[in-house]
Amino acid sequence: MLTTHLLAIFLISAIVSHSKALRFPQELYNLSSNQIFIVDNLSRPPSSSASPTPLLSPAVSSPLVPALFIIGDSTVDCGNNNYLGTFARADRPPYGRDFDTHLPTGRFCNGRIPVDYLALHLGLPFVPSYLGQTGELEDMLHGVNYASAAAGIIFSSGSELSPSKDGIQQSGIRISAVPCFGQMDIAKGYKRSQEFAALQIQQFGGQHISLTHQIQQFSDTYQQFVLSLGEDVAIDLISSSVLYISIGINDYIHYYLRNVSNVQNLYLPWGFNQFLASTMRQEIKNLYNTNVRRFVVMGLPPIGCAPYYLQRYKSNNGECVEEINDMIMEFNFFTRYMTDELLHELPDAGIIFCDVFQGSMDIIRNHKNYGFESTANACCGLGKYNGWMMCMSPQMACRNASDHIWWDQFHPTDAVNAILADNVWSSRHTEMCYPMNLEKMVFSQSLNNLV
Ligand SMILES: *[C@@H]1O[C@H](CO)[C@@H](O)[C@H](O)[C@H]1NC(C)=O
Ligand SMILES: *[C@@H]1O[C@H](CO)[C@@H](O)[C@H](O)[C@H]1NC(C)=O
Ligand SMILES: *[C@@H]1O[C@H](CO)[C@@H](O)[C@H](O)[C@H]1NC(C)=O
Ligand SMILES: *[C@@H]1O[C@H](CO)[C@@H](O)[C@H](O)[C@H]1NC(C)=O
Repeated sequence: MLTTHLLAIFLISAIVSHSKALRFPQELYNLSSNQIFIVDNLSRPPSSSASPTPLLSPAVSSPLVPALFIIGDSTVDCGNNNYLGTFARADRPPYGRDFDTHLPTGRFCNGRIPVDYLALHLGLPFVPSYLGQTGELEDMLHGVNYASAAAGIIFSSGSELSPSKDGIQQSGIRISAVPCFGQMDIAKGYKRSQEFAALQIQQFGGQHISLTHQIQQFSDTYQQFVLSLGEDVAIDLISSSVLYISIGINDYIHYYLRNVSNVQNLYLPWGFNQFLASTMRQEIKNLYNTNVRRFVVMGLPPIGCAPYYLQRYKSNNGECVEEINDMIMEFNFFTRYMTDELLHELPDAGIIFCDVFQGSMDIIRNHKNYGFESTANACCGLGKYNGWMMCMSPQMACRNASDHIWWDQFHPTDAVNAILADNVWSSRHTEMCYPMNLEKMVFSQSLNNLV
């Protein structure tokens, strides 16, 4: 998604504040039925015109959970990067051309991303981006999407791997601005700043919101809920909602595979993967401490099959780059093991791990059955496999994205996202989530909560 490395990057810092009088928590949240009732019309568009992302709201009919929160990278970014100084933005056509609005939104796809489909399965409206929503309580009660394209687990966390006597340790080498969180002005009701501080300037060019900072933003939202709804209601809302994490691929794309800072010589994939998994483990625990109890942890997709790497590694007939896929499979193995450990370690936690690699390989292998013509070529791009140059204009795109697996150099099409989301939800096409799918987790935990 980024081919230009030497770019002048400006650290833009815009602070947009909105304030609005509070509503009483009782009006908003019905604890006994575990459902949210919005007195004000949630389905109306945001009052602010600041958001270029159309807030779609498919009919909200008794959602299964109060909200869906999303943390991650371009696999689930729905517009946060539109507000950042970066080229990792999907804010122009043909991105979004097959989306509900037929407009670019910031989603790295021709249409919907997996969390759009999951929101619908959960009976929720599409989740707004953190930087794109108004900051009003009603806009966040059904969830917030903090994901930022180009973010990674360690890459972009303001840290860099460096050798030490104890093995791997982090050292703060990269540039990062001072974090500043949502401001609270109780006298005026509630005021929230839509800042995006602590953004890193990366050598490949561009800002993004790191995993750590996304979690801080989530915690900020939680504090906002506590202030306006009261602690008990806020805890109940967060703990019965779903938090979806999809991150890690950029630790490969922009860091390990590029051998940044000689990382390949210092760490074998095994050590690198261990470090990624243990960092994720700590972040999940941090989220647990903010009362999250239902996690969906996504594994990494087979980027060894992505058009960018097919072109770069000179694949002959579209066969995937095994050495890359081997590392990804190992990451998924470690992460699955780690989530399984946490499941037993953290009381009342529901954690499922969904192996996107497995689900995607099922699609690639059986592509004819799924209606895909092309497994190797991106729908939009230039060069061999359309993987040499990023997707930049409608003229670069194929007619029918639905018969393609890959939309651009790195990202799958809407059609693939739909299949993967259906697998996460109910294992519809293939078993991909462990120890159960999301539907089972939601229903089994609801039963426990009712007892
Ligand atoms: C809350 O939900 C319960 C069960 O569905 C219902 O009986 C009750 O009237 C609801 N309370 C409010 C304030 O809507
Ligand atoms: C909700 O929206 C409907 C239709 O747009 C409108 O008739 C109704 O008055 C609204 N209710 C509130 C509480 O704003
Ligand atoms: C990684 O980069 C270093 C220099 O930065 C180089 O010496 C080394 O050979 C590279 N490793 C691989 C596997 O390409
Ligand atoms: C696009 O491809 C899909 C999947 O192969 C197919 O079902 C559909 O008919 C195609 N649409 C057009 C307009 O060719």
